[in-house]
Amino acid sequence: MKAAVRRSYGEPSGVRIEEVPAPTPGAKQVLVRVHATAVTAADARIRGANFPRGYGLIARTLFGLRRPRQPILGGVASGVVEAVGSRVEGFAVGDVVCGTTGLGLGCHAELAVLPAKKLVHKPDAVSHEQAAGVLFGGSTALHFIRDVAQVRPGQTVLVNGASGAVGTNAVQLAKHFGAEVTAVASAANATLLKELGADHVVDYALTPVTTLTEKFDVVIDNVGNVGIPTGKRMLTPDGVMILIVGDLSEALRARGNVKGGPSPERAESFTTLLGLVADGTLTVVNQDVLDLEDIAHAHEIVDSGRKVGNLIIKLT
Ligand SMILES: NC(=O)c1ccc[n+]([C@@H]2O[C@H](COP(=O)([O-])OP(=O)(O)OC[C@H]3O[C@@H](n4cnc5c(N)ncnc54)[C@H](OP(=O)(O)O)[C@@H]3O)[C@@H](O)[C@H]2O)c1
Repeated sequence: MKAAVRRSYGEPSGVRIEEVPAPTPGAKQVLVRVHATAVTAADARIRGANFPRGYGLIARTLFGLRRPRQPILGGVASGVVEAVGSRVEGFAVGDVVCGTTGLGLGCHAELAVLPAKKLVHKPDAVSHEQAAGVLFGGSTALHFIRDVAQVRPGQTVLVNGASGAVGTNAVQLAKHFGAEVTAVASAANATLLKELGADHVVDYALTPVTTLTEKFDVVIDNVGNVGIPTGKRMLTPDGVMILIVGDLSEALRARGNVKGGPSPERAESFTTLLGLVADGTLTVVNQDVLDLEDIAHAHEIVDSGRKVGNLIIKLT
């Protein structure tokens, strides 16, 4: 099969298209013919071994100490079931599905194995490109907004880094749960964020996020430039700060009303998100849909830090 392969940690140019053997599903895995996948911030971080400060050794232990254990990146896929493992229930060859891999990766390829527990049936009303776009940022935003911050009607939510994969979903989901949303982004993305429902948009070039004087019930930092002391100062008395990205020292200090850590990949969340996309509540913002051959360019866009929503790779 054709796959985007990299043999060492490094620059986007190290990701090349190669013919490699197709993977074989384990007992609890499903082999999926990939129709669409996403190049995410996680892919770019793992590719470049560019992990938040303090996490380098932990991450390299997971992904390969000196060189990548899994040469094919990609944690999200939408496609069609090609084969199922001996202990898989609920999926059959030909089913149209989408899901994530956890630490396994491997979706930047024509065929990928995904754990059955992280896979759901894709609704017809949601395209492969939309499904591949929504799962990474959507499940992160849903976890932190619904489950951790428990956003309620009438609350105020600040989304810093509102125009990326997590941010575009966070803005919409916070609105969906009834909040008044302030989105922080560059001026170029202000119109998009208003269209997604943001009540207020702050251009960080004119007003750095740390200079805002309002208080918020929830502060979500997708950029990592707020810091815990400043974030706490921006909170109402019962407010919650969410560190979507943070270094190890911040993670160790995240307690009480400061929350962070990795978001779980749950099939239940995928079903909720796909339902919201299908009924038009949630718009999947896909900056571009590229061919697998363009994947190094996709990594360059993610590395630029200016990706808008999601970058999709279409394979069929
Ligand atoms: N905790 C978890 O489980 C988890 C899950 C997913 C992601 N993450 C992490 O969360 C972070 C965000 O992920 P993502 O997928 O949303 O990234 P992304 O899609 O690559 O985000 C790019 C966006 O960041 C915005 N941005 C850059 N500098 C900014 C600044 N100074 N102020 C405000 N916005 C700024 C850019 O908007 P402009 O062009 O408008 O500046 C761009 O749209 C990444 O570090 C990722 O590794 C953590």
